[in-house]
Amino acid sequence: MRVVLMTGSSHPALANAVAKVLSLELGRCAVDRFPDGEHHVEVAEELRGCDVYLFQPLGPPVDSHLMELLLMVDACRRRGAGRVTAVVPYLAYARHDRRETGREPLGARLVADIIRAAGVDRLVAVDLHSPAVEGCFNIPVEHLSAMPLLADHLSRTAVPGSVVVSPDLGAVKRAERYAAELQLPVAVVHKRRTSGSQVQARSITGDVKGCTPILVDDMISTAGTIEAAVNVLLEAGCKPEVTVVATHSLLVGPAIDRLGRLPLRRLITTDSVPMIGRLPFQVEVVSLAPLLGRTIELLRLGAQG
Ligand code: R5P
Repeated sequence: MRVVLMTGSSHPALANAVAKVLSLELGRCAVDRFPDGEHHVEVAEELRGCDVYLFQPLGPPVDSHLMELLLMVDACRRRGAGRVTAVVPYLAYARHDRRETGREPLGARLVADIIRAAGVDRLVAVDLHSPAVEGCFNIPVEHLSAMPLLADHLSRTAVPGSVVVSPDLGAVKRAERYAAELQLPVAVVHKRRTSGSQVQARSITGDVKGCTPILVDDMISTAGTIEAAVNVLLEAGCKPEVTVVATHSLLVGPAIDRLGRLPLRRLITTDSVPMIGRLPFQVEVVSLAPLLGRTIELLRLGAQG
């Protein structure tokens, strides 16, 4: 099957970088808006029988990027694509993977159903919020981890006396994997979310006094979680020299101001969503392009076999 890579409007730079890794050109697909706000998608590429990879991380504006993806998938199907893979390095609504009060929707499941209903055969995602999200999909999911790339970057630059810190109970397993890889101890902050952007951190399990913290999380949205964790770590006697590692840096609302106020040595992240230009702290971006390129190469070979 001929491979065709196409991108929506959410992160063309990443799609171009993956195309470069694979020595391919991006397929012709135009996305814009009608005056009333509806999306307009036009796939000019010949797709009959092709193995199509659609790039569209679901960073903000989340719903708009999701709708654009669905329309692109439908257009590809109607142009006779043989197989459609959605490459969604950051999957929005993944935090809605359970109902805490019994009064909320199961957003992750709903998004998974819509993506499948549009005609996606397979999803490629990176560091989903939890393993439960994979179970929401009725199609195969290639769930990739950026952890080896980020840990490798860290291992070349971590200072002696560091401790890997999970900013909440949900990220403990992730922190343990980083700690094992880097051969460092682990600590856990106990947090309570009071609203979409407000978080309280109360206590820490583990020995952090005099240590240099490396906070690891799947994502930073408003940075409330990181801010609360750093403050409680400083109160517990950590060195004011914090490294934050997160696969997805959405940095919405107060995030940049919050991070800018912290004694942040650096933020290590990936390019799963576009990074905002100049930031008031050091950012080290590890590209997902080689990992995504390798994955597409393997999926393509699988389709041929
Ligand atoms: C929560 O369970 C996630 O792993 C992140 O810690 C959280 O979503 C980050 O959001 P914010 O930056 O708004 O605190």
